[in-house]
Amino acid sequence: MEETATYSKSDANEEYSVVDLSQISLRPISLSDLDDVMLWTSDAKVAKYCTWEPYTNKEKGIDFIQNIASKSLWFRAICLRDQAIGCTEFQVCSDRCRDKSAQLGYSLSSMYWGKGIATMVVKKVVDAAFKEFPYLERLEARVDVENVASQRVLEKAGFEREGVLRKYLFFKGKV
Ligand SMILES: CC(C)(COP(=O)(O)OP(=O)(O)OC[C@H]1O[C@@H](n2cnc3c(N)ncnc32)[C@H](O)[C@@H]1OP(=O)(O)O)[C@@H](O)C(=O)NCCC(=O)NCCS
Repeated sequence: MEETATYSKSDANEEYSVVDLSQISLRPISLSDLDDVMLWTSDAKVAKYCTWEPYTNKEKGIDFIQNIASKSLWFRAICLRDQAIGCTEFQVCSDRCRDKSAQLGYSLSSMYWGKGIATMVVKKVVDAAFKEFPYLERLEARVDVENVASQRVLEKAGFEREGVLRKYLFFKGKV
């Protein structure tokens, strides 16, 4: 069973200093989540290591919910007491001969960082991936070398580091 986690990092919002991880759930996302989705998609701290820029209007959020999320093989809102505070997904790798591999992604509202939420979520996603899609042989994640928190999440969830893909992606003006 998951346990209650405590948080002591300096950028924590006091109101959320403790989160009961049993109140975290994964469910499909819908337009009724739009205001909550805007909270984290408009946050530059959340977008920093992601390929997208912080959202500046609700149209972007609507497009995300209606069109981008639906492109994933599997997509769920990460919810605290059913309020969407982040999202996670995986999609089948599009490269040739990689249709038994899926790539994992996740984002969480910054006011909830450091409480063990993403680690618990990634473990749940791994279970779901191999149970619901038995043809999958591999789940992988690509993380910016500077995104230490995300690397740590993967490590805690049981992923193995395989290497560094040098000069692999170019976005936001840098490799
Ligand atoms: C990455 C992210 C999902 C982590 O979520 P989270 O719920 O805070 O993760 P957890 O609390 O489960 O674990 C975070 C771990 O990273 C560690 N950590 C965080 N910042 C760190 C840093 N700068 N250096 C070293 N470790 C760090 C935490 O201490 C914790 O490890 P610990 O349990 O051993 O102490 C969240 O920061 C996020 O949404 N970031 C923006 C989006 C993003 O980068 N997504 C991933 C793209 S690959």
